[in-house]
Amino acid sequence: MFTPDPDRFLADLHHLRSFGASGVGKGVVRPAFSPEDIAARDWLATRMEEAGLTPHVDPAGNLFGLGDGPGLLLGSHSDTQPEGGWLDGALGVIAALEVVRAAREAGRTDLSVVSFQDEEGRFGVTTGSALWSGAITLDQADPLTDRDGLSFGAARTALGDRPGDWIDPARFTGFLEMHIEQGPVLDRSGDRIAVVTDIVGIRDMRITLSGEQNHAGTTPMALRRDAFQGLAEIATRLDTRLAGIAGAATVWTIGHVALHPNTSSIVPGKAVFSMQWRDGDTDRLDAMERAIRETVTEIAAARDLGAAFGPMRGIDPVAMDPGLRAGLEAAAATLSPGAWRKLPSGALHDAANLAARMPAAMLFVPSIGGISHAFAEDTDEADLTLGLKVLAHAVAQRNG
Ligand code: GLV
Ligand code: MN
Ligand code: MN
Repeated sequence: MFTPDPDRFLADLHHLRSFGASGVGKGVVRPAFSPEDIAARDWLATRMEEAGLTPHVDPAGNLFGLGDGPGLLLGSHSDTQPEGGWLDGALGVIAALEVVRAAREAGRTDLSVVSFQDEEGRFGVTTGSALWSGAITLDQADPLTDRDGLSFGAARTALGDRPGDWIDPARFTGFLEMHIEQGPVLDRSGDRIAVVTDIVGIRDMRITLSGEQNHAGTTPMALRRDAFQGLAEIATRLDTRLAGIAGAATVWTIGHVALHPNTSSIVPGKAVFSMQWRDGDTDRLDAMERAIRETVTEIAAARDLGAAFGPMRGIDPVAMDPGLRAGLEAAAATLSPGAWRKLPSGALHDAANLAARMPAAMLFVPSIGGISHAFAEDTDEADLTLGLKVLAHAVAQRNG
């Protein structure tokens, strides 16, 4: 048995927040491969070393703190959204560090820690863990670009001489990830812990509409080939069409739009936008893709616009490992009796990729107001430390 130290855990969690602190509440801006992200990972590597672990950066920029193995791998990611909170990913990494550190102090040395790179999808979708788990190759990842056109391949040169080789996944017996819920269920129900049953599937694609850039004063309305008007019609029509396919938990989002040249006196000649959709059912995800492609193609044709679909990125829905789940459920029942539940995850997580390579499971703590991917993201510290204890309890009950 071993006991994690809540004060040391919270101190490290707050320190990690200082890398990229936004100055707005507890918000953080630490996108993958930014100077703040790399500095945070250098600090994490130092903390891992101080705990007796061997830090190792792989070619994707994933940071491992290796124990003696074979044993469990614990962790999450430490990159953030362009406007992110202090807990999304960071919580799982620091909880992992504290649990593994406490275990080592008690003489158990098989456990390892990881902070995956680009979970937040600046370039791909959970790019670091997708690469490490073999879902994609570096040849496929390197050309992926962020919204400003920077490629994953170019971005990872910022790692300098840090990367070594890939770590063999076979040295780990399973993966446990602690995370904030990022939704309203626990906050509303009053439960303090959730054990994740499944992680939804996601599809994400960049779509380009090409029209004709022209003068906004002299071009008659009937002669315009306005890329923005095409996008506006697509967004409205898709809301209706996808609602006809959707189940209760289906979601879709146009979250990023770039107009060219994006100024008031020019009819936009180009609109590039992100189209993302999520659901727990692969058939429904496929049906939504067909509806999206058809709608875009129809509206583009009617408006004499070009339509180009970028590569589609995604992950299929995945169930968490029953054995690891049972351990988390037993720990939750012991430490949070009557105040925990089972819950599917509508957010994506590195555990979804790892499930293809090893048993993987997750636990959630509440998000205040259900807010995440925003500077306002937060969780009561009592819930953070309860989650830490549940994670430690589940790990301690499992040998190897
Ligand atoms: C991951 O952060 C997601 O978008 O679900
Ligand atoms: Mn996350
Ligand atoms: Mn996130």
